Amino acid sequence: MRIDVFTLVPHAFAWLTEQRPIAGVLGGELELRLFNFRDTTPLRAGQVDDEPYGGGAGMVLRVDVVAAALDAVYGGATDHRVIALTPQGRQLNQSVVEELADESPLTLLSARFEGFDERIVQHLCSDAISIGPYVLSNGDLPAMVLIDAVARRLPGALAEGSVELESFSAELGGRLEYPHYTRPAEFRGWKVPDVLLSGDHARIDAWRREHVR
Ligand SMILES: C[S@@+](CC[C@H](N)C(=O)[O-])C[C@H]1O[C@@H](n2cnc3c(N)ncnc32)[C@H](O)[C@@H]1O
Repeated sequence: MRIDVFTLVPHAFAWLTEQRPIAGVLGGELELRLFNFRDTTPLRAGQVDDEPYGGGAGMVLRVDVVAAALDAVYGGATDHRVIALTPQGRQLNQSVVEELADESPLTLLSARFEGFDERIVQHLCSDAISIGPYVLSNGDLPAMVLIDAVARRLPGALAEGSVELESFSAELGGRLEYPHYTRPAEFRGWKVPDVLLSGDHARIDAWRREHVR
């Protein structure tokens, strides 16, 4: 799978690319390309944003800058999904993650300050996604959230079976996973449920099914 990210801060993604499971699939199942809007801006002195028409605080990412960045990489119209990360987008959830995980390549656009000129979302993107009903300072964390959620599903990212049986999975009926415990079996009087220490896999399985939330 290939994911292309257009951002003003490509180095912000260093953290993500050093962490497992992403680090484990990079260069194999996952190709991650990072592009800086400033590298292809048609404006002078690396300018990428401008004051909003109508006045008001903050700067707005320019449509000509984003179009130039996309043209430089794709050489014209794109035939794959181009996603603006924006609080106005449809909300990310596990079914959106699964939908995106089936597509390659994906392009993610990250803005900052006041966000995108609306023509970017309307004419240069085919989708818009929000990672939740709150406002972050820029789209880089949302892009990393989306990449992590998608890439951990790629073959080799996690131990076999991990993503089939976890919160929001079809196997658990879209519900939340049962609780987990590890050693010690008792700590400050807080005991692990006896059944989990019993070695009786049928009873453990039944207990886990009962405790899906
Ligand atoms: C400060 S925000 C802009 C907020 C915008 N003026 C508003 O009121 O909706 C700057 C950028 O961060 C990103 N961003 C912030 N919150 C986000 C969220 N919940 N989901 C996705 N992207 C978000 C988007 O790229 C957005 O354009």
